[in-house]
Amino acid sequence: MTLARAIKIAPSILSADFADFGREIHAIEAQGADWVHVDVMDGHFVPNLTFGPPLVKAIRRHVTTVMDVHLMIAPVDPYIDAFAEAGADVITAHLEAGPHIHRTLQAIRATGKKAGLALNPGTPAEAVAPLLDLCDLICVMTVNPGFGGQKFIHSQIDKVHSLRGMIGDRPIHVEIDGGITPETAPLVTAAGADVLVAGSAVFSGGSVANPAPYGANIRAIRAAAEAARR
Ligand code: DX5
Ligand code: ZN
Repeated sequence: MTLARAIKIAPSILSADFADFGREIHAIEAQGADWVHVDVMDGHFVPNLTFGPPLVKAIRRHVTTVMDVHLMIAPVDPYIDAFAEAGADVITAHLEAGPHIHRTLQAIRATGKKAGLALNPGTPAEAVAPLLDLCDLICVMTVNPGFGGQKFIHSQIDKVHSLRGMIGDRPIHVEIDGGITPETAPLVTAAGADVLVAGSAVFSGGSVANPAPYGANIRAIRAAAEAARR
């Protein structure tokens, strides 16, 4: 067994106050967030719309940790350079977003950014096999992408186990996105995940004026996740 990587908690700003992203990002980082997860949706690949490269660029200067940009868009390739220039550290594209995901991962790597590959709940772990050497991160969606606050899909836990086995010693993060709470976090870290995205479970009960609940929420998820580490 390889040495386990430290658990990273990546709050999704999809659950933040959209009119106050700068202060929301300062608040979650001050309260212990390891990464900042940014959900880009196009109203086509997923049934919801969020924001594009100009907003990602505008919030970049508020992020002092890692900006983890999750692209739920199709096509992806025409926008990779714009998100790289906007300052993403990790750019994650969906395997289902088009016929040329291999090319997409190559194009992300060519910008010098970390390349992430996201899998919808209906996509099997085996689909990743020919792409592993192009990935710095694999994101297992534990909800159908498009909205925060959905229910965790338990059938994805076996996929996390399978992916960890396939990854072996490669330096690839396994990120989980959707429905992460102190109750579900241990299920996925026990299966080998090391990056946990959480939107509603981090932002619930707090605000920029009252950020302490963000910290309590992050600590509760982290404690539960670490206790289950294998
Ligand atoms: C869903 C997004 C997630 C979402 C997670 O499409 O990719 O990042 O914000 O929200 P919660 O943690 O509330 O499920
Ligand atoms: Zn996401």
